[in-house]
Amino acid sequence: MITLEHISMEYTAGQPILKDISLSLERGSFHFLTGASGAGKSTLLSLLSLQGKATHGKFHMFGENVTQMKREELPRLRRRIGIVLQDYRLLEHLTVLENVSLPLKVMGESDEKIMPKALELLEWIGLSEHQNAKPATLSGGQKQRTAIARAVITKPDILLADEPTGNLDSELAQRFMYLFEALNQTGTTVLIASHDEHLISLFNYPILRLKNGFLTKQLSSVDNFSPLGDESVLKNNML
Ligand SMILES: Nc1ncnc2c1ncn2[C@@H]1O[C@H](COP(=O)(O)OP(=O)(O)O)[C@@H](O)[C@H]1O
Ligand SMILES: [Mg+2]
Repeated sequence: MITLEHISMEYTAGQPILKDISLSLERGSFHFLTGASGAGKSTLLSLLSLQGKATHGKFHMFGENVTQMKREELPRLRRRIGIVLQDYRLLEHLTVLENVSLPLKVMGESDEKIMPKALELLEWIGLSEHQNAKPATLSGGQKQRTAIARAVITKPDILLADEPTGNLDSELAQRFMYLFEALNQTGTTVLIASHDEHLISLFNYPILRLKNGFLTKQLSSVDNFSPLGDESVLKNNML
């Protein structure tokens, strides 16, 4: 699904942030990406979400060679990726409901199909009462939840999330992890960047760790698998 071969990335010539990174994310896999603040997690996600460019190396996604792709070909691939960025990037002139519905609208789905999904998702993330609110009136956590809903509503082939629970309390963070698991179980390849070692330790997924620009892989943080609780039960329309 995603293959990186000897990728390096730099913002300033001669000062690589990512060094010689090789990585393969299989279809339907679930990984955490961790590392200290400044380690390059967001930089790697910018590459994977087709926003940043590698300095060296090869990058394949969906079986296509992204390294050699023209700029105008990228949106076609981007539509298959759900992205939660650290700064949310909500559209300020749209309501919460419109922001969450937008990816399906862009794909040409009818309102009759979109509305049940969007409304159920809003209920699940606890924002039904704010469906007509504009992002400017929301708290950081509410914006984050809206951004997550927008990223998952299409059931993307790949979900890339940059510190998606950074603004949520630990209970809510776990609840959203269950949402990502449910999405993964429908076939989505998931990569969650987080520096929250505690949250990561609650789940039995392989961990990609960035340090000094290099990437290492650990099979999982713990052996005790955390089973899905009642909270993970999602209703029919949502995913
Ligand atoms: N747009 C940018 N221009 C220049 N340097 C950047 C830019 N974005 C990030 N960096 C630098 O790259 C390094 C990695 O940053 P980042 O990928 O945001 O790390 P993380 O997400 O792990 O905290 C940091 O030293 C940061 O200052
Ligand atoms: Mg970051």
